[in-house]
Amino acid sequence: MHDFGYRGARFGCEGVAVETLARRFGTPLYVYSRHTLEHHFTRLRAALAPLDPLICYALKANSNLAVLRTFAELGAGFDLVSEGELRRVRAAGGEAGRCVFAGVGKTEAEMRFALRQGIYCFNVESEPELERLARVAADLGTVAPVAVRVNPNVDAHTHAKITTGTYANKFGIPFEAVPAVYARAARSKHLRWRGLQMHIGSQLTTAAPFAAAVRKVAPLARALAERYGIEFLSIGGGIGIVYQPALASGSARWWRSAASRGVLTPARYAEALVPLLKPLGLRVLLEPGRFLVGNAGILVTRVEYVKRAGRKTFVIVDAAMNDLIRPAFYDAYHEIVPLRKASARRVRCDVVGPICESGDYFCQGRLLPEVRQGDYLALLSAGAYGAVMGSNYNSRPLAAEVLVAGRQAALVRVRQPLARVWAGERLASWQRGAAR
Ligand SMILES: Cc1ncc(COP(=O)(O)O)c(C=O)c1O
Repeated sequence: MHDFGYRGARFGCEGVAVETLARRFGTPLYVYSRHTLEHHFTRLRAALAPLDPLICYALKANSNLAVLRTFAELGAGFDLVSEGELRRVRAAGGEAGRCVFAGVGKTEAEMRFALRQGIYCFNVESEPELERLARVAADLGTVAPVAVRVNPNVDAHTHAKITTGTYANKFGIPFEAVPAVYARAARSKHLRWRGLQMHIGSQLTTAAPFAAAVRKVAPLARALAERYGIEFLSIGGGIGIVYQPALASGSARWWRSAASRGVLTPARYAEALVPLLKPLGLRVLLEPGRFLVGNAGILVTRVEYVKRAGRKTFVIVDAAMNDLIRPAFYDAYHEIVPLRKASARRVRCDVVGPICESGDYFCQGRLLPEVRQGDYLALLSAGAYGAVMGSNYNSRPLAAEVLVAGRQAALVRVRQPLARVWAGERLASWQRGAAR
């Protein structure tokens, strides 16, 4: 579901015409809908109400402070993977006590910071990490709350680069090894077992792999609860979204039409998982990222040139792979629409950015409405793994971001000033002109 669509000939976000935002704030520009963010969160929470879960938003998907504040106000916890992410959560008003800390490479400094902040749990991904955490906690004279991230070796049937729950992946501790790890670490005075966690992959479009993983892990969770008193099972994130052409808009109609097309809706997800999780009697945690923010954001870009070369047409826009890397990195599909419905004529074209890489494209050989220099386009479903994966490649500044709520629009990240792109760089001391 999302709050983007045509009102007459103009493409809008909630009560705002997106072209007015593009003219006011410039492009490339990310635009987020607060209502879509809230709707997805509350829809998921309602579907899982029998479990009363703690929804820990995975902020790697979109860590803009205004997005984090939106979820914090709804009562979300957060799933994070670095000190920087924890600092962001705190800056946005989120509570450390509702945060879980994942990731295979936590440094000592990160552990120290998270312990001092009082996070809810560390999701530990290896035995050396557990040993390090015990040492850091001992140095601080405290006890670290921990869970193992179990790798259940279940195929999520998603893109190879976002599959995380098989033994070919670097994540978690193999299922068979987990009981011995709990037994060994239970002897430490500086570790306290709090839960068990898993995350098998991202953009899963059916409930079956989730159910298979929960079926496999639930008996282990039950045994760990009996033996070590763990209080939660986290089933991770991974709920997929619709990237392919927009479904009917309007909330109720959207979800009905999604369900009839086999989309993994919160209701379907809950139907598969609640009966497996409820009997455990454990607190349930979830770590959705993409599901909450993916359809809640678009990337707006301006057509700089239309170039015809032989039989090909290239629409060259001012956004590039440094702004949205998903098509180049994952061959991902994003729906592309003009902000004004002008021409009924359709042209087969590649929409490409200005970066000097052949992989810098947003679509190839797609039939799109004919556009001209100066027109604006929107790439839909760009709210997850979009702005957060931005880079300064080709010395391009990071894009601006806007949050819309009804008829209001606020700039929630200023476009990076160009001089900031190289602000941290220095000449070497032996080079002419270097500061002494
Ligand atoms: C541990 C963990 N939890 C949650 C997520 C969020 O996944 P998604 O955005 O697919 O919901 C990820 C994504 O990589 C992750 O690694």
